[in-house]
Amino acid sequence: MMKTEIIRITDRSVNNDRLLSKAASIIKNGGLVVFPTETVYGLGADGTNAEAANKIFSAKGRPSDNPLIIHVAAPLDAERYVYVNDTYKRLAERFMPGPLTVVLPAREIIPLNTRASLPTVAVRCPEDNIARRLIKLSGVPIAAPSANLSGSPSPTKAEHVIDDMMGRVDMIIDGGDCDFGLESTIVKIEDDGTATLLRPGKITVEDLLTVIPSVKVADAVTNALKEGEAVLSPGMKYRHYAPSCPVFLLDGNLSARIDYLKSLDTKRIAVLCYKDEIEIVKKDLSNAYIYEFGELTEQITQAHLLFDILRDADKQGFDEIYAPLPQKSGIGLALYNRMIRAAAYQIIRL
Ligand code: TXA
Ligand code: MG
Repeated sequence: MMKTEIIRITDRSVNNDRLLSKAASIIKNGGLVVFPTETVYGLGADGTNAEAANKIFSAKGRPSDNPLIIHVAAPLDAERYVYVNDTYKRLAERFMPGPLTVVLPAREIIPLNTRASLPTVAVRCPEDNIARRLIKLSGVPIAAPSANLSGSPSPTKAEHVIDDMMGRVDMIIDGGDCDFGLESTIVKIEDDGTATLLRPGKITVEDLLTVIPSVKVADAVTNALKEGEAVLSPGMKYRHYAPSCPVFLLDGNLSARIDYLKSLDTKRIAVLCYKDEIEIVKKDLSNAYIYEFGELTEQITQAHLLFDILRDADKQGFDEIYAPLPQKSGIGLALYNRMIRAAAYQIIRL
């Protein structure tokens, strides 16, 4: 156990350099700092320091074959760490700073363990001004996975980070709740310019298609990997975002879902429920614990709530959790991708 200092930033519109310079010097000296971003909290260290990367892997309990994202203060700073191309520049102009990560050929300066020995590196320029200022003041790129213990949902609130990382990092910057609440979109750009979506997020396939002519969606985004199948993004092979009790996704309309839930004799169930359906569900399922999950069409709200609900459900120790299966379009694809992993691919077709 190490001593973890917590600093709180309540006003993002003012200059917070005095607080952030202490965090920056920890990073510069090879330490670990948890910081907020617009997607989820990151567990940061100097991205050019192999020893610091090792500390990240051990603080998270993360397998060493799962590479880290390198965070930069300005989109074109990426040029120092990867070989950027035209497609990157077009994506950067449209979506950066923002919740988009791009995988490109690595330069030597990024140590092998940071990128899990891959010939590529994932780079991202976060929009959050605390995150960007911290990178700037550190003077180094910041390698940062999500600041959760490996296998748990990514943290979207300071209390999630404190639950997972107290005693494991030098400092936690509490910047309040993350704006979006799901991790960045990851897209891999090949030498010939072709793009593959490795992880869906707030920047949707539809958004990407406004800048690049075509985007291939990696099979593992929507499907379980088959035994022995090669994986493009190592993070996709792990069970993920998962509370300790089983999660099931229900693929069917409201009345089919209610009928199914009524037929269960499980003792303590929790149900994620669209706001527009809550009255009906409450009436029909008086014994279930109901989580309000935004209106059916409010995918932004659902994204914001999902990980907090999964963590809360874990604490409450339900026997089973049930959630509706999301649509795969727009931000729905990001919800679908996270929820099938939380459910270990248990989809009940009604
Ligand atoms: O929103 C985010 O991206 C957050 C915040 C902190 O920026 N970070 C984040 O990092 O989600 P992490 O490590 O939890 O997820 C990064 C994913 C992993 O699934 C990893 O396998 C993949 O990115 N990845 C990293 N480098 C890669 C590479 N060179 N090629 C393919 N996938 C890569
Ligand atoms: Mg993660």
